[in-house]
Amino acid sequence: DWTMEAYRDEAIRQIREQVGDRKVICGLSGGVDSSVAAVLIHEAIGDQLTCVFVDHGLLRLNEAEEVTTLFRDHYNIPLIHADESDLFLGELEGVSDPEQKRKTIGRLFIDVFQKHANDIEGAEFLAQGTLYPDVIESVSFSGGPSVTIKSHHNVGGLPEKMGLKLVEPLRELFKDEVRALGRELGLPDSFIGRHPFPGPGLAIRCPGEITRDKLEILRKADAVYIDQIRKHGLYDEIWQAFAAILPMRTVGVMGDGRTYDYALGLRAVTSVDGMTADYYPFSHDFLGETSTRIINEVKGINRVFYDCTSKPPGTIELE
Ligand code: XMP
Repeated sequence: DWTMEAYRDEAIRQIREQVGDRKVICGLSGGVDSSVAAVLIHEAIGDQLTCVFVDHGLLRLNEAEEVTTLFRDHYNIPLIHADESDLFLGELEGVSDPEQKRKTIGRLFIDVFQKHANDIEGAEFLAQGTLYPDVIESVSFSGGPSVTIKSHHNVGGLPEKMGLKLVEPLRELFKDEVRALGRELGLPDSFIGRHPFPGPGLAIRCPGEITRDKLEILRKADAVYIDQIRKHGLYDEIWQAFAAILPMRTVGVMGDGRTYDYALGLRAVTSVDGMTADYYPFSHDFLGETSTRIINEVKGINRVFYDCTSKPPGTIELE
C-alpha cells in the first residue's frame, strides 16, 4: 500500500546508498522541483549538501530574499547565494533578440554555477529536480538513454562538463506527486502552489532590450497584479499569470499633466502542462480594478492591456 511517506523514506534510503559520505551540489532555482529535491536530499545527507542559488538579477520582487530565507534560515541548508545581477544585466545590455537573450543567460549561468560549485571542495554529485515527464521528453527528443539536465533550464551538459555524477530523486514522479512530496517534507503550501517561472526569468517578460528601469517597473507591476489575483481567490485556478512590460510608450493624462510612459501586458492562462493553454476569462470588473491599481501604484506605467491569446497560436511567455 503506497503512501508519500513511504516514498519519501525509500527515496532517502536510496540517496544515502548512492552518495555515501560524499558531497552533493544542488542548483536551486526557487522553483518547486529543485526546492523539493534539495529538502529531500538534505533530509538524507544533511550538510553534505550545498545549494547554489544563481541570482541573475531577473527575479521577481523580493524573490531572492524569500528563497535564501526559506533555505538558509528555515531549513538550515548550506546555501551559496551567487548575486551575479551586474554580470548578467551588463552582458544583456543592447541584446534584444529573444534567442540571443536566452543564449546569453544560459552561457553565463553555466559559467557562474561552475565558478561557485568549484568552491565546494570535493563535491562529486550534482542534484537535479528532473521529473518523469522530463525523462520521457528527453528520451523521445534525443533518442539517448539518459537525461542530462532539463532542456528548458537552458544549461544542458553541465554535469558532464563538471565531471559530476547525477542525483535525481524525483525521476519517477509527476508534478502533482512532487507537490505531495513537498508537503510531506513540510514545504509551505504557498511555496508548493507557486506558478511556474521560466529560467530566463523577467528577461522574456521584457520584450526587446532589458534595462534596470524597466525591470524595476515590471517587478512592482507584477507584484500588484499577483496580489489582485490572490485577493480575488483566483491564484490556484490559474496555471500561470504574470505581467510583461511592453516595448512601447504611449501618451496618457494624470491630474493636470500629460504622461508618456510604458504600457503593461497582463497574461493569465489555464493549462495542464504548458504545451497548450487557454487565456483566463477574468471579469471586466477585475480587469478594470487591476488596471486602475497598477497605474495608481506603479510609476512608469500609464496603460494596461490584457492578452486574450490562447496557445496555440500564442506562446505563454512573450518571447
Ligand atoms: P511558452 O512561452 O513556450 O512557455 O508557451 C511554456 C512554459 O515554459 C516556460 N518557459 C521556459 N522555462 N526556460 C524555462 O525554464 C525557458 O527558456 C522558457 N521559456 C518558456 C513558460 O514559463 C511556460 O511555463
